Amino acid sequence: MKTPEADFVPWMGAVQARMEAVLGRLLPPAQQAPMRLHEAMRYATLEGGKRVRPLLVFAAGELAGAEERRLEIAAAAVELVHVYSLVHDDLPCMDDDVLRRGKPTVHVEYGEATALLAGDALQSLAFQVLAEHRLADDPATQLDMVRTLALAAGSRGMAGGQAVDLESTGKRLDLPELEFMHIRKTGALIRAAVVLGAACGAPLAEAERARLDRYAKCIGLAFQVVDDVLDAAASTATLGKTAGKDSKQGKPTYVQAMGVARAREFAEELRRDAQAALAGLGGRARRLAQLADFIVLREF
Ligand code: IPE
Ligand code: IPE
Ligand code: MG
Ligand code: MG
Ligand code: MG
Repeated sequence: MKTPEADFVPWMGAVQARMEAVLGRLLPPAQQAPMRLHEAMRYATLEGGKRVRPLLVFAAGELAGAEERRLEIAAAAVELVHVYSLVHDDLPCMDDDVLRRGKPTVHVEYGEATALLAGDALQSLAFQVLAEHRLADDPATQLDMVRTLALAAGSRGMAGGQAVDLESTGKRLDLPELEFMHIRKTGALIRAAVVLGAACGAPLAEAERARLDRYAKCIGLAFQVVDDVLDAAASTATLGKTAGKDSKQGKPTYVQAMGVARAREFAEELRRDAQAALAGLGGRARRLAQLADFIVLREF
């Protein structure tokens, strides 16, 4: 792997630690009734995950000069939607997975009904958090942020992509169909993270916003292409989730469509496009550039 710049890993660690604390504070206490549901929500969310979406919120916030106290809330909202999507993705009626973030999945630990409700409640909490905290000077901007996350999570975004994933299982998709699915199931929330981070700060010029959006689309697709590659090429121990499941379950992936080597090259092309989109944004886009490298070159 290309060695990351010296200050990237400490920055990532600091954001991850901050998010652990913020999420711990925003989630209902495990001692509060209904205890089993609250325990399951905390189990799903805390102590695990790369926190890539929060990192993107902070990185885009840096570009827009946003206050970190706003960014941590926007980041928590996106991460809560992401965690909900993982809990439901692992259910027996979807991917039927038993391992996530190195631990038994929520339905294995708490049962299917509680896992379903924990996902529901995590999504609601995300929107509660977005509505409860002041994230933009202008209320219209904040309302737009709520709408951005709702669109990204819904049937035109993540949930829609998941629907395509399920109805395509056992089939082969061509490249435009695969791209349609990946942009939605994974790309939409990644893009929302970037948009929300920037929205916490000073308004960007139209040209800057267009560059940022191009970056977000490239890394959003790249993220799922790399997820497909890692499912085929990495181990369960490294991933903290069951490796090799996509081919076993007949999932349409970039690996199925073009093989591991070509899929890696495609992710690399997307990384270059993402970096090119940032050109001209200057040093304030440094963290975004580092994250594009991390997303494509990661090994887990
Ligand atoms: C896994 O996401 C599911 C996809 C959308 C590909 P991540 O790889 O970001 O999972 P965590 O949050 O680090 O566990
Ligand atoms: C899931 O894609 C995308 C989500 C919206 C959760 P995958 O099904 O490939 O994610 P993993 O591999 O289980 O993390
Ligand atoms: Mg899935
Ligand atoms: Mg899955
Ligand atoms: Mg996967």
